[in-house]
Amino acid sequence: MKRILLIVGGGIAAYKACELIRLLRKQGHAVRCVMTEGASHFVTPMTLAALSEDKVYTTLWDLKDEAEMGHIQLSRQADLIVIAPATADLLARMAAGIADDLATTLLLATDTPVLAAPAMNVRMWDHAATRRNVATLRADGVTLLDPDEGAMACGEYGPGRLPEPVAIVAAIERLLGGQARPLAGRRVLVTAGPTHEAIDPVRYIANRSSGRQGFAIAGAIAALGAEVTLIAGPVTLATPAGVTRVDVESAQDMADAVTRALPMDAAIMVAAVADWRVAKAPHKVKKGDTPPALVLTENVDILATLAKGPDRPRLVVGFAAETQDVLPHAQAKRVRKGADWIVANDVSGDVFGGDANTVHLVTASGVESWQRMPKEAVADRLARRIAEHLDVLDTVQSSGRVSLRPDQG
Ligand code: CTP
Repeated sequence: MKRILLIVGGGIAAYKACELIRLLRKQGHAVRCVMTEGASHFVTPMTLAALSEDKVYTTLWDLKDEAEMGHIQLSRQADLIVIAPATADLLARMAAGIADDLATTLLLATDTPVLAAPAMNVRMWDHAATRRNVATLRADGVTLLDPDEGAMACGEYGPGRLPEPVAIVAAIERLLGGQARPLAGRRVLVTAGPTHEAIDPVRYIANRSSGRQGFAIAGAIAALGAEVTLIAGPVTLATPAGVTRVDVESAQDMADAVTRALPMDAAIMVAAVADWRVAKAPHKVKKGDTPPALVLTENVDILATLAKGPDRPRLVVGFAAETQDVLPHAQAKRVRKGADWIVANDVSGDVFGGDANTVHLVTASGVESWQRMPKEAVADRLARRIAEHLDVLDTVQSSGRVSLRPDQG
């Protein structure tokens, strides 16, 4: 959790500050807002107060605030100051060192890092005065994002739009550095999607896995700084940013790819691996008088092989898709397969291909049931848990007090 002081400038893009606050809160950060006089004409302090769950500061002359917390403390208590939208006027006053309202006064009175996301009319952005101010501010150490290009509220087109809130959040996380990338230096393996088991050159056995949860997990883990190898069965999904993807078809291909990818610090086995394969016919099976019998052979259990093998990652996480008795089955599966954690989900509803998931994290120390949430949120939460757990394992290992057991919760 970091403390972010958000200064909202007076422009039409001020409404996007609402989404920015929401995203930052979702990332677990505390957000305190300061609005310029102009900003309060576009969004109300009440809106920002509700979203940030904190008081919103608007004026230098509120004696009660000064008694409670002076403007100096306001900026010094923050890990980062973010200005969004940073208007041409606000940038100009900052560049000149003017302190004529709460926002500019606290900007002058702080050495906390500052990130500014500009938004203004395209001609204002292009104006020589703004160019000068931007150059001055960058030279002063302010991180100033480039505005987006596109249609503007004033009807003109060009650079000047506020960068999208998600892009501002990504820039904030990069600036906050360190703790925002708690998986930096870790190697993590993720399997995802279904497998296809060929019957003949044109037919196969498959399952309903969309790969979405696994891909979201690979993306969330990479976003926390890990080097991620994603071994994907046949799916139609884009590769998440920063992820190395290996495409496979069958369970055997997946098992081989997993072996080749080792060693890893953690493995998250999300793939819905086919339990059986068919002895593949070399040519297309022709329709005859009687339907052909499919003789099934059991596939290798990739998770169990990895968890019990010599190159076992320090943290092995399996998934359990169940339609009944979810928790007892997941507990049993955790022990049987030698996984540290099982993420159990009830797939009797609309999980396959859907947006949301309800999961239970089953570890040696018990069960944690997470509320229903989007698959991306499950991924993010799991990625953070993995980061924390690897840190704990490091601490335990370096203190040398406890010997590591594979099933450590
Ligand atoms: N798994 C695997 N290799 C297999 C089968 C499953 O690695 N051949 C992994 C999955 O990626 C998942 C976990 O094992 O992490 C659980 O898979 P699941 O299909 O629920 O379990 P099964 O082994 O099929 O057990 P059951 O049929 O009793 O549900």
